[in-house]
Amino acid sequence: MNKTSQTNEKPAFVLWFTGLSGAGKSTLADRVYERLTQSGRPIERLDGDSLRAAFPATGFSRKDRDEHIKRVGYMASRLEHHGVIVVASFISPYREARDFVRKLCRNFVEVYVDASLETCRKRDVKGLYKKAMAGQIQSFTGLDDPYEEPQHPEIIVKTDQQSIDQSEKTILDYIQRYL
Ligand SMILES: Nc1ncnc2c1ncn2[C@@H]1O[C@H](COP(=O)(O)OP(=O)(O)OP(=O)(O)O)[C@@H](O)[C@H]1O
Ligand SMILES: [Mg+2]
Repeated sequence: MNKTSQTNEKPAFVLWFTGLSGAGKSTLADRVYERLTQSGRPIERLDGDSLRAAFPATGFSRKDRDEHIKRVGYMASRLEHHGVIVVASFISPYREARDFVRKLCRNFVEVYVDASLETCRKRDVKGLYKKAMAGQIQSFTGLDDPYEEPQHPEIIVKTDQQSIDQSEKTILDYIQRYL
C-alpha cells in the first residue's frame, strides 16, 4: 500500500447498538454487519450473547455489567485503532459505561434501538421476560434493573414503529460518511 492510499483511507468506527432485550440490537447489527462485509473493509462483530458465553462468570450486578462493557469497549477501541470497523450489540444499560467506551473510541456511533418495554415483553424472543416475571431471573433490565436511555445517540431507530428494513436503512444512511 502506498502513502497516497493510506492518506485516503476511510476511518474505522465503532457502531454500538444499545437497548432493551428484544429491542432488535442483534437483528440489526447482523444485517448491517452483512452489508459491511461486502465493502471488503476489515470488520469485527461483537455481541452480548457470544461475549457472555466466552466469559461465563460475568454476572448482572451493576459492577459486573460495568466491568464487562468497559472491557468489551476497550477491545472495540483497540480494533478501531487498527482500522477495523466494529459492530457491537450489548444491552449496555448504564450511560456512564457507554460514555466511557465513547471516550476510548475515535468514531463512536451510538445506535439507540428503541422499543417500548411492552413491545419487548410481547416479543420475548428468548423467553427471558417470562422467566424474569416469574421470578426465575433477577436484575433483568427494564424490569427490576434500570435502562438509562442515551441522551445524544448518533442514531435512533424505533423498532416498534419501523420495519427491520427501515431501521437498517436509517443506520446505513448515517454510516455512509465512513464508507
Ligand atoms: N425494526 C426492527 N428492527 C429490529 N428488530 C425488529 C424490528 N421489528 C421487529 N423486530 C423483531 O424484534 C426481535 C428483536 O430480537 P433481537 O434478538 O434482535 O433483540 P436484542 O435486542 O438483540 O435482544 P437481546 O438483548 O436479548 O440480545 C426480532 O424477532 C426481530 O425480528
Ligand atoms: Mg441480542
